[in-house]
Amino acid sequence: MFQAMNLFKRKSISELQAESHSEHGLKRALGPVNLTALGIGAIVGAGIFVLTGQAAAKYAGPAIVYSFILAGIACAFAGLCYAELSAMIPISGSAYTYGYATMGEFVAWIIGWDLILEYLFAASTVAVGWSGYVVSFLKDMGIVIPAQFTGAPYNHIAPTDAGWNVWRLFTEGWVSTGAVLNVPAMIVVALITILLVIGITESATFNNVIVAIKMTVILAFLAVGVCYINRENWDPFVPAATAAGQFGWGGVLRAAGVIFFAYIGFDAVSTAAQEAKNPQRDMPIGILGSLAICTILYIAVALVLTGIVKYTQLNVPDPIAVAIDSLGSGVRWLRPVIKIGAIAGLSSVILVMMLGQPRIFFAMSKDGLLPPVFSSVHKKFQTPWLATILTGTIAMLVAGLFPIGLLGELVSIGTLLAFAIVCAGVFVLRFTDPEIPRPFRTPMFWLVSPLGVIFCFCLMAGLPLDTWARLIAWMAIGIVIYFAYGRRHSKVQIRSRAGGGR
Ligand code: ALA
Repeated sequence: MFQAMNLFKRKSISELQAESHSEHGLKRALGPVNLTALGIGAIVGAGIFVLTGQAAAKYAGPAIVYSFILAGIACAFAGLCYAELSAMIPISGSAYTYGYATMGEFVAWIIGWDLILEYLFAASTVAVGWSGYVVSFLKDMGIVIPAQFTGAPYNHIAPTDAGWNVWRLFTEGWVSTGAVLNVPAMIVVALITILLVIGITESATFNNVIVAIKMTVILAFLAVGVCYINRENWDPFVPAATAAGQFGWGGVLRAAGVIFFAYIGFDAVSTAAQEAKNPQRDMPIGILGSLAICTILYIAVALVLTGIVKYTQLNVPDPIAVAIDSLGSGVRWLRPVIKIGAIAGLSSVILVMMLGQPRIFFAMSKDGLLPPVFSSVHKKFQTPWLATILTGTIAMLVAGLFPIGLLGELVSIGTLLAFAIVCAGVFVLRFTDPEIPRPFRTPMFWLVSPLGVIFCFCLMAGLPLDTWARLIAWMAIGIVIYFAYGRRHSKVQIRSRAGGGR
């Protein structure tokens, strides 16, 4: 019984706040503009450049605009909760640290382990998308990379009659694609890993440049596209339902689940808390600012995209380029520009995701839950270099070997779980630690936090069984590691055994 109670040992907020001010070796270099750019860098990527068109064509038609509004509302709830916690506990571990403060060590470990699905796997997913755009861009220029080296060796189509038979879900449905490895995806991950080891300032500057490029390209698309809108393409705005989850309001909901991926990333800002100059003020600005800018941008892109081309033509890997093609030769120059923007956009998503992951490992290692090597900071570069290299190596292998669909759904389910726990955490802390200063307070937390949890679970419920099975298997592996290593080395547990814990 005593042992079980220990699992839920919490770290006190004052202890965490003291840690955030202590010497940790990371460099405090980021201001509000860098942090907002970091958020936009992580958010605008495969979601808008690839998924918008596909979700409009398959599920929602022009009403994809409503799907963006719905998913945006769900993310706004989570964003407000992240803003409160990140200003209050400005430590690089993000949701992992908030979990430690609110629900104790075991839940914190679960979130930390779960966040690997979000950050590390998102970097791999987007690297696969990046590879697709680069291959197509090079092909437009007459350079053809052999197909064996541009894709995953296997695709996975889960058997529909397997129910909860986990063995069948995992072992059946693998189809050989004829490819060997996705080499471009591996190369981009390797290059970004090198950049991240070199320095946070260099990485942030690179990110700012890329964000400027992708925003310019998207704004150019909007400016040109708006002149070509044909209102007939919006008629009917909500196409009649053809089957469950296809068009009509059911389709709008389903598409919201799919394009949720497009919003993932604003929370990555919170992993840079220990590198922010003034985290109490700037964390909420970075998180909420980037989320607000991207929501407006997404709704505008969805409106223009479905206004210039009939949604039925958008089920392609490069919908925005296809829309431009439909406008005639006068604006053909925009096609390569869009592709360059997409390639740039996807690069910064990989960058920020791979910046977040080692910083979560860093926080977990500082707490003793992972070996000390994960919190080793490079003397000259002041970055968590070993954790960055390890993250890069695993992300490279995953990007080279697995198909994008399987990875993307795992990322979504992992992220939604983390968001739900963060929303719950805000609620819990208001009662357990009401006196702690909160530089940012979630408005109407009694409504926003529970709604955040409910929205996240609804979106999770829409994901397929095999994705759930993978999430559960991943968590089971994590629990084994926790009992084999983390629990024995946890600093909180060691202090508690020595009689000094909380
Ligand atoms: N939101 C990120 C993207 O769409 C993950 O690529």
